[in-house]
Amino acid sequence: MNISREEIVAHIDTPLLRLISHTADEMQLECYLIGGYVRDFFLYRPSKDIDVVAIGKGTDLAEAVTRKLGKHTHLTLFKNFGTAQIKHKEYEIEFVGARKESYRSDSRKPIVEDGTLEDDQRRRDFTINAMAFCLNGDRFGELLDPFNGMQDLEELIIRTPLDPDITFSDDPLRMMRAVRFAAQLGFDIYPETFDAITRNRDRITIVSMERVSDELNKIILSPKPSIGFILLEKTGLLEILFPELTALKGAETKEGVGHKDNFYHTLSVLDNIARETDDLWLRWAALLHDIAKPVTKRWDPRLGWTFHNHNFIGEKMIPRIFRRMKLPQNEKMKYVQKLVSLHMRPMQLVEDEVTDSAVRRLLFDAGDDIDDLMTLCEADITSKNPVKVRRFITNFKIVRRKLREIEEKDRVRNFQPPVDGNEIMQVFGIPEGREIGILKAAIKEAILDGVIPNEHAAAYAFMLEKAGEMNLNPVDKPGQ
Ligand code: CTP
Repeated sequence: MNISREEIVAHIDTPLLRLISHTADEMQLECYLIGGYVRDFFLYRPSKDIDVVAIGKGTDLAEAVTRKLGKHTHLTLFKNFGTAQIKHKEYEIEFVGARKESYRSDSRKPIVEDGTLEDDQRRRDFTINAMAFCLNGDRFGELLDPFNGMQDLEELIIRTPLDPDITFSDDPLRMMRAVRFAAQLGFDIYPETFDAITRNRDRITIVSMERVSDELNKIILSPKPSIGFILLEKTGLLEILFPELTALKGAETKEGVGHKDNFYHTLSVLDNIARETDDLWLRWAALLHDIAKPVTKRWDPRLGWTFHNHNFIGEKMIPRIFRRMKLPQNEKMKYVQKLVSLHMRPMQLVEDEVTDSAVRRLLFDAGDDIDDLMTLCEADITSKNPVKVRRFITNFKIVRRKLREIEEKDRVRNFQPPVDGNEIMQVFGIPEGREIGILKAAIKEAILDGVIPNEHAAAYAFMLEKAGEMNLNPVDKPGQ
């Protein structure tokens, strides 16, 4: 890469970095920009996270810089770790002192702050993350790259500066980070580094699940997530972290009838959806849409391979997976469950006749998530048969048009029945109970089936008629 010192200087010549530079000069402290900020400069990825390493006490530098920055600056000192963080406007700046020991921010080992820059670079995760720009005086903008990070950046390679067994034992999360950077940046993992991940994979279990899921989410959010999942699978990390996914692997054949490999199918669906949305949870829904296929798989002599109810069983498997992965147990999870449970419905519509009532029911069940559901369903078409694909796409257009028409006409997307339980109780003077439930359900069904329009008067009349059949009579209110 032909990037000159002048270009580097031009990039880092900002008031903030100049202020850090002057402060360090005044304190006679060597200091460098390092890590993601330097890497991302060469990759033309703008970054607001800045890592600064000082040869000496990083926290002292952070305190002095905070005083100079004045207002709108927030300093947090992590005394035990010898690190500090400054939040200033949109920037987050981490300060550390150069160490001989491993970099790890959450290491239980004592902090040894007596390293040289090169000691510090050596203990970082990857060569592309170990490059540094000097911030001092006339060395401002000088690149220090003793482990050839620049060459690896050009050759798109993830490689550890040290023997990978040491780098990964310093912090096993780095095995996930290697995969994540490969997926995010479209890089390859260097063979020796890759072999070390495979060798050390069991050590991932000592890392907290929160940190692991953080990396997993970044893999899911990368432009082509399958790159990450294939690497996780090949290194054996996936089997440890997510056995439900590896169970999707393989395609069995019986009496000449096969089924698709659901692992690779799932990854194509995930890649398809990644082209349509940056939404993490919609991507999670794609990853999990067929998660119950292995446990529901049966061989039926008449039908061949079946996966009955895999959508509903999948929906039920999700809370356990989310709990284990320390993912949120809130409406995000419910959203993923809902999409997994409904993921076959639009396709069934496409395959059967697209009746108004079926469309109305789908709108009612999906509510505001109908568009996401349609996106997921389209992403689920991974057939290699162009005729089939064309037919699906055409029919999908019809379903989408119908969805629009019915929604405009009947507004069932978020519909609350126009006559509710309270009104029914009042009209008939009866308490909550079985009858109320029956009447409510009958009204809902009649609207969804198109027997009556989604309006109060029609629903009221229908309720009276239905109640008559149940020998329920309205109470006469005084004055009526
Ligand atoms: N680092 C490390 N080992 C880790 C985590 C981080 O060596 N387990 C070092 C790397 O030099 C990394 C720097 O600390 O570049 C900053 O870490 P972090 O902010 O987590 O990652 P970035 O590389 O900045 O990338 P991103 O912002 O995409 O996470």
